[in-house]
Amino acid sequence: MTDEEYVDVDRELGFEPAVSDNTVFGNIGRAPKTPRKHRGGLRRRVASFAVLVGALTTVGGGYALLAPSSGADDTASSSADVAKGRQLFETSCITCHGANLQGVTGRGPTLVGVGSAAVYFQVSTGRMPAPSQGAVNLRKDPEFNEAETLQLGAYVQSIGGGPQVPAPGTDLRASGAAVANGGELFRLNCASCHGATAHGAPLSAGKIAPALDKATDAQIYTAMITGPENMPVFSNNQITPEQKREIIGYVDYLRASKDPGGAGIGRLGPVSEGIVIWTVGIGALMVTILWIGAKS
Ligand code: HEC
Ligand code: HEC
Repeated sequence: MTDEEYVDVDRELGFEPAVSDNTVFGNIGRAPKTPRKHRGGLRRRVASFAVLVGALTTVGGGYALLAPSSGADDTASSSADVAKGRQLFETSCITCHGANLQGVTGRGPTLVGVGSAAVYFQVSTGRMPAPSQGAVNLRKDPEFNEAETLQLGAYVQSIGGGPQVPAPGTDLRASGAAVANGGELFRLNCASCHGATAHGAPLSAGKIAPALDKATDAQIYTAMITGPENMPVFSNNQITPEQKREIIGYVDYLRASKDPGGAGIGRLGPVSEGIVIWTVGIGALMVTILWIGAKS
């Protein structure tokens, strides 16, 4: 159907022409009055996507303006931070990781070369300090605040080197059109484990790739450069820092996006709504049949 035909159909049905000028934006803000079956769905989806991209751009821009503009990629840590980090390490980590980060057999691996990025990821997501030997380390409330986490990282960095946590306040999230690139990269590199909608998925041997709804920008970034557990390391040759920002933008977009087709019901898949309608509908039918049967 051409645009004119749509307008004709609308006129026949007594509606004003649906497309006044030929842009989708012309209709934003005008609430659909009556269900327009023909292309309301698509148009609404396109419109809400446009609003979303606009919002992302605004938020991203606002954040870039407000965020402390420390362009440096690595953390300039003072010797005071290193000393504080050492104290924290000696009370909370030394039993499993050893006095010189060399690791303790049967308790914890060496931390030489894991860098402040790995410490940031592990400690800020509450995975470390591990509660006990052999437990699966899941995300939980962190035991250390942001400053302490960075101090721990500074200490580990000062001894063994390795990938560094981005300086606090670094803008790690791309916005606008780059988010689409991020989607491409996400489907290529992350979706196989974390699922196309980042809702997480089981892996082999009882491991799981967790949902990404709770991870902060810095946690997503440090996860990519350190590769915790079964996750691969995504080096800067493989995925450039800019592409990492695009991926983070996309993960954030996934978290912010509403389900265009109605209730997502945990995004079980495209059939989820149908299944609910089927189950509830058949259930209601059975009840009605029983009720009619009981009455007669
Ligand atoms: C009860 C023992 C235990 C304690 C306490 C502990 N860890 Fe760990 N840590 C482990 C084990 C075991 C692993 C490996 C498990 C894994 O990879 O999931 C690990 C892994 C790590 C890693 C990832 C290493 C890598 O190769 O990427 C970091 C970083 C880390 N720990 C930091 C810390 C810090 C910092 C503390 C103190 C705040 C701490 N851990 C306390 C047992 C412990
Ligand atoms: C081979 C499977 C695999 C791939 C591919 C993978 N991950 Fe992971 N990811 C994991 C596993 C397993 C964990 C859990 C690690 C742990 O608990 O120590 C994880 C954890 C994470 C976390 C931490 C989540 C949280 O809430 O603590 C983030 C963020 C993350 N991954 C992002 C990514 C991104 C972004 C990509 C793509 C660039 C990616 N992952 C690719 C397996 C994978």
